[in-house]
Amino acid sequence: MAQPSEQQPKEMLFPKRFLWGASTAAHQVEGGNHNQWSVWELENAKTLAAQAPYKDGHAPVWNEVRRQATNPNNYVSGRLANHYQRFEEDFDLLTAMNMNAYRFSIEWSRVEPKQGQWDAAAVQHYREYLAALKRRHVEPVVTLFHFTLPVWFSEMGGFEKRSNIRYFVEFAERIVRELGKDFRFIITVNEPDTYVAQGYIELHFPPQTYGLRRALRVYNNLARAHNRAAKAIRAVSPRFKVSVAKNSPYFYPGDDAWLSRVSALCMQYVQDDYFIKKVIRQCDFLGVNYYFSNRVYGYRVHNPEKDVSDLGWDMAPGDIEHALVRLHDRYKKPILITENGVADQNDEYRKWWISQTLAGVRRAMDEGVPVLGYMHWSLIDNFEWGFGKWPRFGLAAVNYATGERTLRPSAVWFGKVIKKLRRI
Ligand code: BGC
Repeated sequence: MAQPSEQQPKEMLFPKRFLWGASTAAHQVEGGNHNQWSVWELENAKTLAAQAPYKDGHAPVWNEVRRQATNPNNYVSGRLANHYQRFEEDFDLLTAMNMNAYRFSIEWSRVEPKQGQWDAAAVQHYREYLAALKRRHVEPVVTLFHFTLPVWFSEMGGFEKRSNIRYFVEFAERIVRELGKDFRFIITVNEPDTYVAQGYIELHFPPQTYGLRRALRVYNNLARAHNRAAKAIRAVSPRFKVSVAKNSPYFYPGDDAWLSRVSALCMQYVQDDYFIKKVIRQCDFLGVNYYFSNRVYGYRVHNPEKDVSDLGWDMAPGDIEHALVRLHDRYKKPILITENGVADQNDEYRKWWISQTLAGVRRAMDEGVPVLGYMHWSLIDNFEWGFGKWPRFGLAAVNYATGERTLRPSAVWFGKVIKKLRRI
């Protein structure tokens, strides 16, 4: 793919207080977690490995990853990058890239391994974790639910039962009471749509149980969980800034046909607005994860088949502009880009991706969208859920055998860009 160089980020201006950062999620980097996902991984690793050639054989890097993707170990998170113990080293990567923000999740199953029993050592761990960010002048963005649940909560029905929401609210409240002095930004729920679609419709996530009605119930409960947690958090202190992180692809008609245009609008509504409308009044800003656009012909999504990432996803990074403008036109909230990135193990596209994304973000800002910051997914290579360990989203590559982290060339470049844009 050509590497367009017009509108290089270094020529753009971003506000002095813009947040420049990277994101992770506990289960994807920490290693050694015990939650509903780790249980599911062990039960399903063999099946996932056997299905991989049929499910992922179209991936452009398939020949390079086939051995790993057909090995059951790929689907067991296990020790991973051992970020739980090596976080200081990983935070040094933030500093090396001149970043001033970092999004991560607090693993509920660690701090409350049994219902009502708090693990003081785990809480202390996250206290030290936050202190390590503070020493580096990095603004934390704390996620409370990023797809993983304590086994006890999942066994009692998880978010399928409305009456269970209170356990999540208690967890949220306790976290801000115990640790809240060291952060302001909170994401209650990450990508509710992905959690529901993958868990109950497409079946690549636990609980892997098909059911449209159940899916809708969980979706609505996640909106309630956000609203109630946000109120509880603000009751502790109004200085917290709370939101969800919404996965917001941009849907556009591939032709002028009436059906394509109407379908694109309907899909966008189902994807974004159905949920956002339910929570927006309890959001101080809107967290947005942007990975791709969806081109709609008739009533189907049919994306271009060339210029795809390692996962086969269409790469249209500049379209983030349209996603941001649309969301701001509708909801009038400041936007924090909580995730954006590309699976690119050979680091072929990442530099181009970031440069196009930042240009798109800047265009959106020129059109009046107040963007608070940009967090790249991800700081380090990690566990990509149902795909396991082979997709490489990291700014830093991780050698899982040695634990060694190495900033990819695109990350070294990005660090220099941030330095210019932050004017430091
Ligand atoms: C999720 C991340 C995931 C990333 C790339 C988002 O759906 O929040 O956990 O790794 O996208 O797929």
